[in-house]
Amino acid sequence: MPKINKYVDIDTVEREAKKDLIDRHSPFITVEGEAKKGEMLAVNVKMGKEYTHPDDLDHYIESITLFNGETKLAMTTLVAGALGNAKSHSEVTFNIRPMGKKLNLIAHGYCTKHGIWESTPVEIAVAQ
Ligand SMILES: [Fe+2]
Repeated sequence: MPKINKYVDIDTVEREAKKDLIDRHSPFITVEGEAKKGEMLAVNVKMGKEYTHPDDLDHYIESITLFNGETKLAMTTLVAGALGNAKSHSEVTFNIRPMGKKLNLIAHGYCTKHGIWESTPVEIAVAQ
C-alpha cells in the first residue's frame, strides 16, 4: 500500500522543488453550480494548480478517484501519452447525484512514481 500524501498549502513551503512536487501531484476539487438532492452535480478534479505533471511512459498520473467521506464514488484511469507526453494538468469531471444532506468530497490522484496524493476535503451542503 503506497503512502497517502496529504495536501499541504504550498505557500507554507520554502523550497521551490518541494512546492512543485506537492502542487503537481495534488488534486483540486471544483463543484459546478449548486448541489440539489437527486439532481446531477458536476464535480471537477484537476491535478496541480500552478505546476504541471509529466505524461511520460514511466511517470504519469494513472488514476483520479473521488470519495464522499469514506465512500468511493468514482474513479477514472488514464494512460501514459493521453496528454501527448506533454507536462499537463490531468483533469476529469465526474457527474454524481447527491442524495444526503451534505457531501464531504475528497479526491486522490495516483502517480506511477510518487504514489497517492489526497486533496483537502470540500464540504458541500445539498439543498433538499
Ligand atoms: Fe509524479
